[in-house]
Amino acid sequence: MRRMVAEHLLDPADFILPLFVADDLGQSGQRREIPSMPGVYQHSMDSLKQICEEALAVGIPCVDLFGVPRPEDKDATGSVAWDEAGILNRAVAQLRAEFGDDLLIMADTCLDEFTDHGHCGVVTHDRFGREVVDNDATLPLYADMAVAQAAAGAHLVSPSGMMDGQVAVIREALDAHGYTDVAIMAYSAKYASAFFGPFRDAVGSSLRGDRRTYQQDPANVREALLEVEHDVAEGADFVMVKPAMAYLDVLAQVAEVSPVPVAAYQVSGEYAMIQAAGQNGWLDAERTMMESLMAIKRAGADQILTYFAIDAARFLRDQKDQ
Ligand code: PBG
Repeated sequence: MRRMVAEHLLDPADFILPLFVADDLGQSGQRREIPSMPGVYQHSMDSLKQICEEALAVGIPCVDLFGVPRPEDKDATGSVAWDEAGILNRAVAQLRAEFGDDLLIMADTCLDEFTDHGHCGVVTHDRFGREVVDNDATLPLYADMAVAQAAAGAHLVSPSGMMDGQVAVIREALDAHGYTDVAIMAYSAKYASAFFGPFRDAVGSSLRGDRRTYQQDPANVREALLEVEHDVAEGADFVMVKPAMAYLDVLAQVAEVSPVPVAAYQVSGEYAMIQAAGQNGWLDAERTMMESLMAIKRAGADQILTYFAIDAARFLRDQKDQ
């Protein structure tokens, strides 16, 4: 009866699995565990394909790819991001060739993994000599990156750099190149969050400073609604709130007004906390995982990006078998 009256149900189709592919691992078949994210790996091309097969087998419809370039390939603008031979574009092409339309391939459309300073955009100096990210100089680079990802076969691109106007320039560039059917999942309300900590390990980020000049202040929710409104007007097919658990109020308010599907990203730090407490025997990691995902769904998420995607999908499958 509990199941019959449950107001919300989780399903593997709700999940999007973020994945990391590292250039230096090549086709070795090897993978490298991320120390602060136990159970999450940087992949070689082969192990990437394998984990995508696992995801597909448990009913996960979509993966989100992040590239980890060789340190020597990073530069001030992150130019490997739009190079078709760059790690992320090669990985997208390989997966699209392998899976066709059976698995949706989403690419992260942001420069931070590829820049030597680790910022999400072009860095210039303001009149006081401080390093600042130049919003408008970054936009054409995002457009080039999105077009390269679409050319490689991405079904979705996902601008995560929080530059103003990024969705508009990407939509325009995709359409101009004939990629009218490539969708945009916009990171609309992305907060300058300490919960991203382990992600820096995951992508070998070289970030100096922080992202408070372009990501949102945790104090603000009205601003998130405005960001969503802008992104929808610019052509976003999905909007996203990130992180998830500490921002469920923002998620609920966005879900109430958004005319497009609303995704939430359960980020690296959220994953790490649950795993760490689980490893210490302080929490039941599996129950906490499922409860956290249900809370995100209940707050209004239509899609949940989570490093738990495969484990959670397996849990749901086994539960149904009972
Ligand atoms: C930046 C990006 C970040 C994450 C996804 N894209 C890091 C940041 O903005 O500092 C974080 C994901 C996570 O923590 O799981 N392009």
